[in-house]
Amino acid sequence: METMRWESDTLVLLDQTRLPLELKYIYCRDHHQVAEAIRNLRVRGAPAIGVAAAYGLVLGVDAARCSTRREFLERAREVAGELALTRPTAVNLSWALRRMLDRLENAPESDPGALRGILLAEAHAIFVEDLETNRAIGRFGQELIPSGARILTHCNAGALATAGYGTALGVVRAATAAGKKVSVFASETRPLLQGARLTTWEMLQEKIPVTLIADNMAASLMARGGVDLVIVGADRIAANGDVANKIGTYGLAVLAEAHGLPFYVAAPLSTVDFSLAEGGQIPIEERDPAEVTHLAGRSVAPPGVRVWNPAFDVTPARLVTAVITERGVAYPPYGESLARLCK
Ligand code: MRU
Repeated sequence: METMRWESDTLVLLDQTRLPLELKYIYCRDHHQVAEAIRNLRVRGAPAIGVAAAYGLVLGVDAARCSTRREFLERAREVAGELALTRPTAVNLSWALRRMLDRLENAPESDPGALRGILLAEAHAIFVEDLETNRAIGRFGQELIPSGARILTHCNAGALATAGYGTALGVVRAATAAGKKVSVFASETRPLLQGARLTTWEMLQEKIPVTLIADNMAASLMARGGVDLVIVGADRIAANGDVANKIGTYGLAVLAEAHGLPFYVAAPLSTVDFSLAEGGQIPIEERDPAEVTHLAGRSVAPPGVRVWNPAFDVTPARLVTAVITERGVAYPPYGESLARLCK
């Protein structure tokens, strides 16, 4: 399965809004198409939107229309600004765009064609590094997983949410590859059903045992002793270890604590935002009410009803057992452990 690829100056994206019923790729030839794809969750998941935005920046700057280095840089900043506005919570988006602009600003070249080549090479590097990062997260994370573990995950933090392999599901993949007979519970993840549509699909493809539950079944499952640990991804982690992830994650963390279960977060260090002291400062995206009032295009609520539709919530660091990164596992206090891993 390929979340995205670069082919003949085109960003080819697997349209995740169509999964699992249709396997359809979309072909983005300008940055407006990439922005639309990110905004409407055709490509989604924190690392994946960072990589897609990096390629989007390459598509947005037409070297032939820039006669000077200054013009090229100005255009690149403008396009990066537009792409950065598409989704506010996942810090990987602005992280990737900042990295692209830094690379450009530090390049001595003056020819716009050469500058575009530098941008493209940087986007490829972000893609490749994300894949390597996820494999490293998998290696560190699988050591925490006992053989036979029944793992509850939320949303989709898999290959689809990244350049490949996944973060939370990367740990599941690595544990499976290590011969541990793990199984997964996927919570459906209302309102957009990333768990039901995407996580189950990924696990079935790999023949990793998976059971789908509705979001409101997790407490009951834990009370029956059906879960051994919870593992999720992250969209942004504040310096103190507070974690923003898909709405519903906080509830699962509270439940895990109430049932004495470990609650792990698997994420690359690029997801840690050291500029924010705590999770209350993380911007939380609010989305179209129609995502809640409608299911598969059909209304399930009275017309005009008031809706609150935050896409993410914040899990306080005290509920997080450990953060699994590509450089190792961070334990509380996160203010120190995460900073140490980043040195
Ligand atoms: O709204 P989405 O589908 O982009 O939300 C995705 C998540 O919340 C993931 O858990 C997170 O981005 C981590 S993906 C490795």
